[in-house]
Amino acid sequence: MTYRYITTPIYYVNDRPHLGHAYASIHADIMARYLRAAGHQVVLLTGADEHGEKIAKAAMQANEAPDAFAQRHARSFEDAWRRLAVGSDVFVRTSSAAHSRVVSACLTRLYEAGEIYLADYEGLYSVGQERFVTEKELVNGKLPEDREPPVVRRESNYFFRMEVHREWMRRLLRDTPDLIQPAQYRHEILRLLEEPIGDLSISRPVERLAWGIPIPWDASHVTYVWFDALLSYVSPLGYPDGADFTHYWPSATHVIGKDILRTHTLFWLAMTHALGITPYRRLLVSGHLLGADGRKMSKSLGNGVDPLAAAQTFGVDALRYALVREVSFGFDGIITNEVIEQRLNRDLADDLGNLVSRTLAMVHRYRAGIVPAPGAYTAGEEAIMARAASLPEVVLMLVEEMKLGRAVEQVMAFVTALNGYVATSAPWTLAKDPALAKRLDTVLHTLLEGLHAVSSLLSPVMPASMGQLRALLGDGGEPGWNVPWGEGVTAGAGVRQGILFPKRREAGVAGPTMSR
Ligand code: MSP
Repeated sequence: MTYRYITTPIYYVNDRPHLGHAYASIHADIMARYLRAAGHQVVLLTGADEHGEKIAKAAMQANEAPDAFAQRHARSFEDAWRRLAVGSDVFVRTSSAAHSRVVSACLTRLYEAGEIYLADYEGLYSVGQERFVTEKELVNGKLPEDREPPVVRRESNYFFRMEVHREWMRRLLRDTPDLIQPAQYRHEILRLLEEPIGDLSISRPVERLAWGIPIPWDASHVTYVWFDALLSYVSPLGYPDGADFTHYWPSATHVIGKDILRTHTLFWLAMTHALGITPYRRLLVSGHLLGADGRKMSKSLGNGVDPLAAAQTFGVDALRYALVREVSFGFDGIITNEVIEQRLNRDLADDLGNLVSRTLAMVHRYRAGIVPAPGAYTAGEEAIMARAASLPEVVLMLVEEMKLGRAVEQVMAFVTALNGYVATSAPWTLAKDPALAKRLDTVLHTLLEGLHAVSSLLSPVMPASMGQLRALLGDGGEPGWNVPWGEGVTAGAGVRQGILFPKRREAGVAGPTMSR
């Protein structure tokens, strides 16, 4: 057994989640489920990033105290993940006392070690991204992901000596080619590290922002939200000496979006290095989901798809499937209601759903709904069995690299092969000749076993429907992994008929979008 630790970003709880947020969470959840199925001991962490200006401002606009506001929104994230089948083991809240204690302890340690100092600072600050930005990052006077241009800020801040870790970071990235994936993001950071990165402002004066973790030795400052949030990856594990930290941290895999790449490399790697924490094992960086207008899906642009409404319309599993299938991890991609609907109708209803209903209908028609025992295998069955046997390893390899779309594609190609097998073995012809009864048994059994294998292979992506499929096949148990051929279904047991993915007929009708 090995321990595996996977994290989603800790979301700003200034609003409800949109599909862009769901993209990272669903990917992390699917990876966690695959690894769990394969026998790893997995912890999946998600949570709420509750401090900082963004939340304080949103709370003020809502005429609510920041803690009450953050709590209400954190709950709506928790609820959304539950409804989208994102089964996290830990939901960290940065306003919790336990987390604050860890942040304070880390700050004190670094301050006492001389890694933090007080200085005046003037620079351009993006309120949207909660950080100082450089001129170089601006396009037409603002960050591409912001609506407002950055503002000039001058204030006394505590600084964390980040620059002194630059050489170490460069070496780490150079020596660990799989640390940041896909590779283009590692190259981007390596280029950035060729020049000085400066030190990091890690405090805000209380008179400007009171909503944060106080700097332990100076009550006139609160902790910068990123310094606080990044530590939420370790605080729930009982850092520094909790057993969970010892077990899980060495495998830490952070799943993030590309807009928070710098904070997760420059800031987080330097922080961990300064604190003597081994660096995370992997940083998996997604591209952005774009709205129908081709721009990054975001609440402020009003081009977001509401994941909960989409789940209601298409089914949670179809939504999860479409997300991983449509937009390759690491790249930007457009996802619209039309695209989700097409995936549902074509892949899930036509290819997989039809295979399921045809197979079960034939078992009912020809074998009274009872799983037949197979007879001798021919080359056709041998090919199906060989493919089924090789898939778990292939799928896991792709999952480890977060190539979920390709993993799913492999399984769907197996579904296509099973559909081809139905056509070539023509059970309806075999059924006409009593002398071919054993041959028909073999074909039906092969199809049922094949479907059982599909249910295991796709369960992490579509947990509810694949559970339903297992139940139709007479297996009421937990999803298996790499189940030996012949042990998926039980000869003599009954199967039921049912429709897994009802097709949506109103193709072209506009689906849910998110109101501003
Ligand atoms: N609170 C920080 C993260 C702290 S992690 C220690 C934050 N929060 S966020 O809510 O603004 O964004 C969370 C994640 O959602 C980021 O990884 C971001 O990339 C992702 N997405 C937000 N919109 C997105 C898309 N349109 N597409 C894909 N992911 C996007 O940043």
